[in-house]
Amino acid sequence: MIKKAVIPAAGLGTRLLPATYAQPKEMLPCGRKPTIQYVVEELKAAGVEDILIITGRAKRALEDHFDQDFSLLERLKNSGKMALHKEMRFIEELGINFYFTRQAKPTGLADAIYLAKDFVGTDSFYVALGDTIILSDPLGLFLKDLAKLHLQKGVSGTIGLEKVRKEDIQKYGIIKGTYLGERIWHIEHLIEKPSPDIAPSQLAICGRYVFTPEIFSAIEKTPIGIGNERQLTDSIKILIEEGADILGLEMSVDGRRYDIGNPITYAIAYIELSLKDPEIGDFLKLYLKKLVENF
Ligand code: G1P
Repeated sequence: MIKKAVIPAAGLGTRLLPATYAQPKEMLPCGRKPTIQYVVEELKAAGVEDILIITGRAKRALEDHFDQDFSLLERLKNSGKMALHKEMRFIEELGINFYFTRQAKPTGLADAIYLAKDFVGTDSFYVALGDTIILSDPLGLFLKDLAKLHLQKGVSGTIGLEKVRKEDIQKYGIIKGTYLGERIWHIEHLIEKPSPDIAPSQLAICGRYVFTPEIFSAIEKTPIGIGNERQLTDSIKILIEEGADILGLEMSVDGRRYDIGNPITYAIAYIELSLKDPEIGDFLKLYLKKLVENF
């Protein structure tokens, strides 16, 4: 079992301005919960015990969100709001050890991950992007499948993949590989945000990874890439060039990924996750039906 995870959450969220002017994009709610809480709950379901969140400027709310506020709990109890009281004890119930560190400059995903070197130590670890929610049934199954494959095959990295539409290729890291069956790919090449005419496939890196600590020496050798940032995709490419085996695992058809990184996909995530919420979902469904009928 993999016990440690890193959540990079230092990105500037420029595409979501003005909503992200004074708050982290990872704190934007999807229904009643902020995005980062879904990511943490998925990691918990996969058996993670220690999480390092990489934050940056104007991201302090992320630390506050995973810090128990005892006076709030007291107030909720005293005013008889027991359901909320129970819900707001989620930090205690998660039982996860949280660690935070700051990326001083937004120099890319690879540099953010590099900050986890000491935290990780010698074992394999998960990386779960803080702006991507992945739902599977049961929760955490996709991460567990990634870890199982990674540990069984003894590879240097295992990457979650999802087939995307041609027009979305340019938003992602795209892989080229050989299909081994059962949703598994042996990755031979990757390229960060290629234009669709040179993209080797429509298989995109979906924001979930498992790495051995070998990734850190690859990051040290990674030059600045597209967007003037050090790209994790380029570090993985270096590992492959050095002879390491990297596998990809496609999400299963019943898995669902929500990328909150731009206004449209964020709106979709907000609507769909609100509809799934047991408290507000049923009402919202009826409301949306009426709204669409009268459109
Ligand atoms: C990052 C990765 C990219 C991956 C994507 C998934 O890009 O660099 O390879 O496909 O996340 O969401 P970003 O969305 O940070 O630009």
